[in-house]
Amino acid sequence: MHSSELSPMKKEKECIGIVGAGAMGSGIAQIAAQSGHSVVLVDQNDSALQKSEDALASVANRLVAKDRWTMEFSHEVQRSITRTTDWNQLAPCTWVIEAIVEDLDVKTEVFQKLETLVDSKAILASNTSSLSLTAIAGQLSHPERFVGLHFFNPAPLMALVEVIPALQTEPSLVKRAKLQMEAWGKTPVVAKDTPGFIVNRVARPFYGEALRIVEEGLASPQTVDAAMKASGFRMGPFELMDLIGNDVNYAVTQSVFEAFYYDPRYRPSLIQKQHVDAGWLGRKSGKGYYLYETSPIETDAVETEAFGWISERIIALLINEAADAFYLNIATAADLDTAMTRGVNYPKGLLAWANERGIGPTLKVLEGLQELYGEDRYRPSILLKRMAVNQEAFQLDATNA
Ligand code: NAI
Repeated sequence: MHSSELSPMKKEKECIGIVGAGAMGSGIAQIAAQSGHSVVLVDQNDSALQKSEDALASVANRLVAKDRWTMEFSHEVQRSITRTTDWNQLAPCTWVIEAIVEDLDVKTEVFQKLETLVDSKAILASNTSSLSLTAIAGQLSHPERFVGLHFFNPAPLMALVEVIPALQTEPSLVKRAKLQMEAWGKTPVVAKDTPGFIVNRVARPFYGEALRIVEEGLASPQTVDAAMKASGFRMGPFELMDLIGNDVNYAVTQSVFEAFYYDPRYRPSLIQKQHVDAGWLGRKSGKGYYLYETSPIETDAVETEAFGWISERIIALLINEAADAFYLNIATAADLDTAMTRGVNYPKGLLAWANERGIGPTLKVLEGLQELYGEDRYRPSILLKRMAVNQEAFQLDATNA
């Protein structure tokens, strides 16, 4: 249960502005309203505002029916949100969180407009999942009060929020943002402003290596999915890509690949592109790697004898990515593990998993792949190499920042 769902409404009504009433903006508005704020939700599109209002009403009815919200709380939450196309209503807000279309120029324009509307001390935040916060901040008059707050979908249910300072962000704002997210019942982690932040970077091999295994004809999507589920993942990579949408997953992979100057570690897959080109987008189009119109998930044709090497290979690459992110100071070891368990429900934090499996054996898998393929894609993190030589383990207590 969301920790703030049953908490009494707070007395003070700090105004929170949200721009963009789509899936994410509506979810964030709900979180702020149920945490006791008055919320101004702005969109350029009346029908988006109406859809957002209807969606919250149906969520509220469901929660009341399940006895998780009282009727009074439900009315209070819904009353707390003002939906409007009039940007001037954002003026009293002390925080404004943007969740509009993922386009650098459009977002930059919106923040420049917001700067003219709100107090110069008001905090401006973006929910971007792939754009550079530093690039947006670079176009603002007061970049020091700008920060990334990356919620996960569906925002009211997913605990994780990545707090991402731009280079120009006033350092004390990071702590303030973390406190605000905690007050909203969220689990904040701090990530450096680099492509994919934590989750969208570290998770890439879960999809990329699975696609490669299938592309090479080494195993079927069913077998890869079953192998990863046998290792504790709730969903296999192909089921998950079908759920996320192959177009969305491909776009994230492509943007991370380009942002890393075409590092082969993040190279997108032709199979994935072809699925997008064919319109086989996953659940939403009725067909992806699986067929959803006739039967849900096909579970035949699974080769259990392949489970060991498949999961070993994918998990070694995930650990390598997490280790490299730690080595490059993208986040603390504790935050890296929290991000993957709370943001994408991994069964264990990858660095804790590295300790459990052993750094040496993990490195051996990576070196074996690198030798076999002769590709930079499989290069082991320098950190894993050093740790193996020194027989070290990751220190995962939160104080080991
Ligand atoms: P969406 O397409 O559902 O909603 C976007 C809303 O913004 C629409 O209602 C649209 O009318 C409005 N909008 C667009 N341009 C506008 C403008 N200039 N002024 C005012 N309103 C405008 O998009 P969604 O999925 O909610 O994503 C929003 C942001 O959140 C994007 O930056 C996305 O990358 C990010 N994000 C999305 C996640 C997801 O799983 N959908 C997860 C985490 C972040």
